Amino acid sequence: MIKTSRKKAGALRDERSAARTGVSNDTEPAWWKEAVFYQIYPRSFQDSDRDGVGDLRGIVSRLDYVRDLGVDAIWLNPVFASPNADNGYDISDYRAISPEFGTMEDFDRLVREAHARSLRVVLDLVVNHTSDEHPWFLSARSSRRSPYYDFYLWWAAERGTPPQRRSHFDPAGTAWRYNPPTDSYYLHYFSARQPDLNWNNPHVRSEIYDMMRFWLDKGIDGFRMDSISYIAKDPSFPELDRTACPDLFSCYARGPRLHEYLHEMNREVLAPYRCFSVGEGSAVTSGEVARFVEPGRQELDMLYHFGAAEVRNETTPDGEGTDIPYSLIALKRMFTRWDAAVGQGWPAIYLGNHDQPRMVSRFGSDEPGLRELSAKMLATFLLTMRGTPFWYMGDELGMANIRFRRIDDYDDIDTRNGYIRLQHEGGDTQLFLREQAEVGRDNARTPFQWNPTTYAGFSEVRPWLRVNPDYPRVNAAAQEHDAHSVLAYFRTAVTFRKQHRNLIYGSYRLLDADNKRVYAYLREGGGERYLVALNFSRRNALTLPGPELGRARIALHNYPDIAAPAGRVIELRPFEAVVYEL
Ligand code: GLC
Repeated sequence: MIKTSRKKAGALRDERSAARTGVSNDTEPAWWKEAVFYQIYPRSFQDSDRDGVGDLRGIVSRLDYVRDLGVDAIWLNPVFASPNADNGYDISDYRAISPEFGTMEDFDRLVREAHARSLRVVLDLVVNHTSDEHPWFLSARSSRRSPYYDFYLWWAAERGTPPQRRSHFDPAGTAWRYNPPTDSYYLHYFSARQPDLNWNNPHVRSEIYDMMRFWLDKGIDGFRMDSISYIAKDPSFPELDRTACPDLFSCYARGPRLHEYLHEMNREVLAPYRCFSVGEGSAVTSGEVARFVEPGRQELDMLYHFGAAEVRNETTPDGEGTDIPYSLIALKRMFTRWDAAVGQGWPAIYLGNHDQPRMVSRFGSDEPGLRELSAKMLATFLLTMRGTPFWYMGDELGMANIRFRRIDDYDDIDTRNGYIRLQHEGGDTQLFLREQAEVGRDNARTPFQWNPTTYAGFSEVRPWLRVNPDYPRVNAAAQEHDAHSVLAYFRTAVTFRKQHRNLIYGSYRLLDADNKRVYAYLREGGGERYLVALNFSRRNALTLPGPELGRARIALHNYPDIAAPAGRVIELRPFEAVVYEL
């Protein structure tokens, strides 16, 4: 059975290669450059066994829906055994499926059923840390003489107070936790329930590579690598350079031997299996990305960055006359910089995932009348940019932030521990809650909205996280047969992308860079030219991108009607998106 699924994956690969026609560009074609990835958060997609938690059988039952979207691959957030301190990002057994999600047979079936629909399967690889309930850590923490002690990173108490390291989720903010039986502190960049693995130890690395082979032998097609930029640490723990990285976290992505480990992993696992890899580029800057993804370096296929979230959170509007709550000019510059920075590598593009709020709420508007238009505009952006789009489930319906009001509504360790920390520090918890309503991760984790029945068709019982009350209006069933729905538009846009290989592989050039409300760019390759004009604001806007449009053909647009192009000026209505073929 194992052999069959590997053969199947191989067949998928060959079928795609055969479909290639000569597009002249510098980029070597690859299935994952042409693919649209669809991210499924398993807890929230479909419950099949009435426990209020999504599961593998639930996913299988919805695979036709996924196939009909036109996407090519699914990325599943962790489905492994876990006490769920961080919803599966704390793994207690790398080779077991969490009973909440089903059995290994269910998993094998999911891979088979996905492949039967030409959907590849990508798993989350969480190897910066394990759960504190992983047998390695249970043994390690029991005694300094445990053979697993050196699987983790420790600071012996006799050396005094450990050097400062910050933690993402710890209520006290520190990444060290004292462990009495060993009289030492262990390192945890995330919560204390997620101790960091010691990659300096070759046994750790070979255990991880074996585990990766275990899943690849089952027929999966690749990995999304969690916090992969954080894995390398100097075991002497020098004081970090506060000028180089004032927040400390940026230093985490520059650990010694990081690229040596990634190259080794490539040589040991990724290359022999010809499998796909995308890394989560926590704290990686555009100046560093090429080192991860340039093909000659033989590390990862792609790395995704946090640029869009940073621009959204950290910039202010571009001045007079814009209604956009952040700097669109900065957003454009950021994407343009990253596009160039990958060098001979390939970009990854996304605007939302399980760690971010809903993209329509953050970059568009979820107000009635604007939600659909802006969701379609953002889809146009993701599907016409250079780079592989990572699409988050439910964004094809325009699912929006739930905006919880009370701390008890939240499940997420990030929000809950952040709140506790602020309480200790005497900070403004009300302000924190208002911010979390906009940026909290649970906004993206509410159950998928399938239909207008109770619990949105996600489950027959009360789900683990509240369903967004907008589900009677916003759901897949309602959009399925509506030719003007966000869902229908998404399918059209995916098809458009698929049918235009020159758009996929063509170059990207930013136009009208200083425009405060319109993002316009040119995609050019194989003798074809596409001009994309996107109004990111809720008011009418103009752009003068340059090319004469008189003979342009309108290839894709998100309003039901549109005037024929003329001259050089493009007038766009609120959140209007137009793709011209020049
Ligand atoms: C990554 C995951 C996030 C998780 C964290 C710790 O950022 O995407 O969900 O909490 O790593 O594993």
